[in-house]
Amino acid sequence: MEKDFSQFDLEKTRRALELASFGIGRVSPSPLVGCVIVAQGGETVGEGSYIYENVTHAEVIALNQAGEKARGGTAYVSLEPHAHTGRTPPCTDALINAGIRRVVCPVEDPNPLVSGKGFQVLRENGIEVVTGILKDEAAKLNEKFCVWHQKARPFVHLKLAMSLDGRISLRNSVSTSLSGKESAARVQDLRHEHDAILVGGNTAFVDNPSLTDRSGKPRRRKLARVVLDNRLRVSTDSTLAQTAKDTPTIIFSASDDARGIANLEKLGVEVVRLNARNLFHILNELKTRSLQSVLVEGGSEVAGAFCDAKLVDKLTFIVAPIVIGGSHAPLAIGGNGAHSLDNAMRFRDLEITKHGEDFEFTSYPQIRDEE
Ligand SMILES: NC(=O)c1ccc[n+]([C@@H]2O[C@H](COP(=O)([O-])OP(=O)(O)OC[C@H]3O[C@@H](n4cnc5c(N)ncnc54)[C@H](OP(=O)(O)O)[C@@H]3O)[C@@H](O)[C@H]2O)c1
Repeated sequence: MEKDFSQFDLEKTRRALELASFGIGRVSPSPLVGCVIVAQGGETVGEGSYIYENVTHAEVIALNQAGEKARGGTAYVSLEPHAHTGRTPPCTDALINAGIRRVVCPVEDPNPLVSGKGFQVLRENGIEVVTGILKDEAAKLNEKFCVWHQKARPFVHLKLAMSLDGRISLRNSVSTSLSGKESAARVQDLRHEHDAILVGGNTAFVDNPSLTDRSGKPRRRKLARVVLDNRLRVSTDSTLAQTAKDTPTIIFSASDDARGIANLEKLGVEVVRLNARNLFHILNELKTRSLQSVLVEGGSEVAGAFCDAKLVDKLTFIVAPIVIGGSHAPLAIGGNGAHSLDNAMRFRDLEITKHGEDFEFTSYPQIRDEE
């Protein structure tokens, strides 16, 4: 069915993806979904975006707008309509009952429990289903939801700011702001896309960060702050602890400092007692809290640990036109590193963007056959 579409289909599918993107920050742990209904004569008669709190799905919002005009028309949906009853009745029923004759949708739902079933039900009811248009864009839009279902853990996006020679600060004992104000705005947008932000204990100690989403865009849940801190270096005076009543703050720590832990807990910090070196346990804990995606913001040791464990789904480097040099400035990725080039992480689909004087490199790890 992949060739059975026109330029018009392409434009309407693109619009459905755009409508889906309006839900960024507002749907997790559900997927982003947008829908356009086009009447038989070619007129757009309904549009919908899914927002978790509003419950109603994008298809139903668009169909309600279209009313009787939907009969005999085409539905452009960014993700396979579901055929099961969840918080709402099946969207496949809504499309069938509205008299839709054709559904154009780029990709199946990545959830293995429901994948393909929506398309099957539509076809069984005589609806033409066209798939494959803009499928890479559609899969990318829901990349967090995909990893959540396919790898049964949160999506991990590693992001670091660095100099041209790959240093992330002057020393690992000092806070160094490397990128410009345009990049700073971009970082807030990245935070907005994620459910959690994670840093190492040393970064939390040295930078005393606030780790908040200051994009100004609406979000469903506050960005959860996560610190890997076995030595419990986050103090009760820190910005994180002082603001923990307002913003979820989770510290993973193997520390047996019962008093220190109790003092942090009094301020609203959740201290989870486990060895923060075990990243699989950490991600599992985040999963049990329905945190679908995590933006890892360093420092060098933590970035290296995620790379060593091959637990990076997406990588963003923001490179400032500056050289730091010397042997004491930490490099972006610490940890054990690769023992051979065969063992090194390779990346694909590199995108380069400019923010003021800085360059952003965003890419995805190549999946090896054995992984
Ligand atoms: N430019 C940037 O984008 C950027 C971003 C962040 C930080 N920085 C800078 O980077 C420097 C800090 O980097 P860093 O490498 O020294 O420290 P880090 O990565 O922030 O923290 C490392 C510490 O975290 C603890 N940890 C707990 N679980 C861990 C795990 N699974 N893997 C690795 N470490 C774990 C370890 O101590 P325990 O096991 O004892 O807890 C470790 O010593 C600072 O100068 C900061 O300003 C720059």
